[in-house]
Amino acid sequence: MDVRVMLRSFPCRRHGCPASLRLLSLAMTLGVVGLLSWPWLQTAPAAAPSHEDPDRHSCAGFYRPAATPRRAVFSVEHFGAVGDGRTSNTEAFRKAVRHLESFGDKGGSQLNVPRGRWLTGSFNLTSNFTLFLEEGAVILGSQDPGEWPVIDPLPSYGRGRERLGGRHISLIHGDGLSDVVVTGVLSQLPTQSIPLVCKEEICSFVDYPSFVLGHRTERKHRWARQDLVGLLVEQDAAAHAGYVVLKDLTVLAPLHSPNTDGIDPDSSSHVCIEDCYIESGDDLVAVKSGWDQYGISVARPSTDIIIRRVSGTTPTCSGIGIGSEMSGGVNNVVVEGLHVWDSAAAVRIKTDVGRGGYITNVKLTDLRMERIKVPIRFSRGSNDHPDEGWDPKALPRIKGVHIANVIGFEVGKAPVLEGIKDAVFEDLCIRNVTLFVKKQEVKWQCEFVTGEAYDVSPVPCEDLRSNSSSSWCRES
Ligand SMILES: *[C@@H]1O[C@H](CO)[C@@H](O)[C@H](O)[C@H]1NC(C)=O
Ligand SMILES: *[C@@H]1O[C@H](CO)[C@@H](O)[C@H](O)[C@H]1NC(C)=O
Ligand SMILES: *[C@@H]1O[C@H](CO)[C@@H](O)[C@H](O)[C@H]1NC(C)=O
Ligand SMILES: *[C@@H]1O[C@H](CO)[C@@H](O)[C@H](O)[C@H]1NC(C)=O
Repeated sequence: MDVRVMLRSFPCRRHGCPASLRLLSLAMTLGVVGLLSWPWLQTAPAAAPSHEDPDRHSCAGFYRPAATPRRAVFSVEHFGAVGDGRTSNTEAFRKAVRHLESFGDKGGSQLNVPRGRWLTGSFNLTSNFTLFLEEGAVILGSQDPGEWPVIDPLPSYGRGRERLGGRHISLIHGDGLSDVVVTGVLSQLPTQSIPLVCKEEICSFVDYPSFVLGHRTERKHRWARQDLVGLLVEQDAAAHAGYVVLKDLTVLAPLHSPNTDGIDPDSSSHVCIEDCYIESGDDLVAVKSGWDQYGISVARPSTDIIIRRVSGTTPTCSGIGIGSEMSGGVNNVVVEGLHVWDSAAAVRIKTDVGRGGYITNVKLTDLRMERIKVPIRFSRGSNDHPDEGWDPKALPRIKGVHIANVIGFEVGKAPVLEGIKDAVFEDLCIRNVTLFVKKQEVKWQCEFVTGEAYDVSPVPCEDLRSNSSSSWCRES
C-alpha cells in the first residue's frame, strides 16, 4: 500500500495541518548502534527506506529539524559515569539530569553518552533536553531491584498494571515533560538523528500522551541479560506534547521475562515508531489507553499512530498488540512492514467486557511472519480487572480493522477471531493473506465478528466470506 495514502488517514494530513503544528512537534528517537550489521536487517522486507523523499518513507514527515541546538552540552562522564558495563552509573545519570534541569529555561541542554556500556538504574529525563547516544553507546538496565523504585500509578489505570498500588518506574523515565529528545547515531540512515522541535504553544496540542519503552518488569532480578534499553516519557495534561518519534531503536529484554513490552504508546497521540528491532518477553509494541473504569473516566485515547518496519521476536506474546487496556479508546493506527518470528502471535487485538472504549480504523499491511503459533488473534476475556469496581455493561467497540498483504510460514494455526457477544467486532477486512499452516489447524475460528475476507488462504470462516462481487474490502 502506498505510504502516502496511509499518512493521509491521519487527520492532520487529511484536513491540512497548520504549519505551526508540524513545525513545533515533539520528536524523540533512541538508537543503539550495531543494529545495521545484524542479519535480520538483510532479510526483513522493506528494511531499507528510500532516502529520496523522507516524508514518504519515514517519521520525518512528522517534524522538521530543530533550528537551534541545545545551549549546554555535557558528557555523562563529566558526572562521574564509567562505561565499563559493571560500574553502576545511576547516581551519575541522576546528578547529570539534576544539573541540566537548570538549563531548561536557558536554551536547553544535551547529555551525551559516549561509546561504552553504561550500567544504570532508573533515571528521569527533564524538559528542553536531549539524551544523545553516540555511536557504540549502550545503556544497560541494572539488575538491582533497588534501582527501580515504585512510583504512583497512572490515573487511567488506578493501580500498577503489574502489581497492586504503585508501578515500577522505567529505566529512562519522564513525567510532565516537554521538548525531550532521545536520539542516537545510525550513520546509514539520514533521518535518524532527529532533533526535537517543540515550542510551548504547540506542545499543548495533545493532551496527556505517555510513552513507555521496555519497562514494567516485576522480576528484574531474574533477568538473564542486562541488555535493555528502556524509556518512559509521560506528559501530563499540564505539560502537553506534540509528536513523538521513536526511530532506529533497539530494545532487548530477556525473552522469558514477563511485562517487558518493547514500546507502549499509552494514551498517546501522533506517535511514529519506525525501524526498530525488539526482542522481548512481552509484546514488541503494544498500543494501550487505560484500564476499565479508570481508563474510561480519564478518557485519553491513543490516536494517530504509525508503526513501520518493526522486527523482532517474543516467544509468549505478540508482535503488535492493541489492548488489552484500551478503555480510553484507540483510533487511527497504521502498521506496515512488520516482521515477526518465533512468537506466540504476530497481531493481537485484546479486549474484554468491562473495558469500554473502542478500537477503530486500524490498518496493518505488509506483514511477514515465521513460526508463529497464532498469526492473527482477536480475543476477549482476558478477565483481568483493576478491582471490583469495573462495569460489566462497559462493552468495547471494535470496528474497522484491515489486515492486508500477509505472508506466513510455518504458522501454527489459522487466525482466531473472537469477538464479544453483545459487541460484535465489525467491518473487519482481511485481504491477500497467505498462511502456510502446519498440521491440521487450517480452520479459522471466528465468533462474533463480521466483515469480509478476500484472497485469503486457508479459506476464511463463513463470517467473513463475502457473496457480493463489489466489495469495500477488496477495493480498500
Ligand atoms: C523550555 O524552553 C522554553 C523556551 O524555548 C521555555 O519557555 C520553557 O519555560 C522551558 N521549559 C522549562 C521546563 O524550563
Ligand atoms: C522521577 O520521576 C518520578 C515521577 O514521575 C518520581 O517519582 C521519582 O522520584 C523521580 N526520580 C528521581 C531520581 O528524580
Ligand atoms: C499480496 O501480498 C504480498 C505479500 O505477502 C505482496 O507481495 C503482493 O504484492 C500482494 N498482492 C497485492 C495484489 O497487493
Ligand atoms: C451473504 O448474503 C446473505 C444473504 O443476502 C447475507 O445474509 C450475508 O450476510 C451475506 N454474507 C456476507 C459476508 O456478506
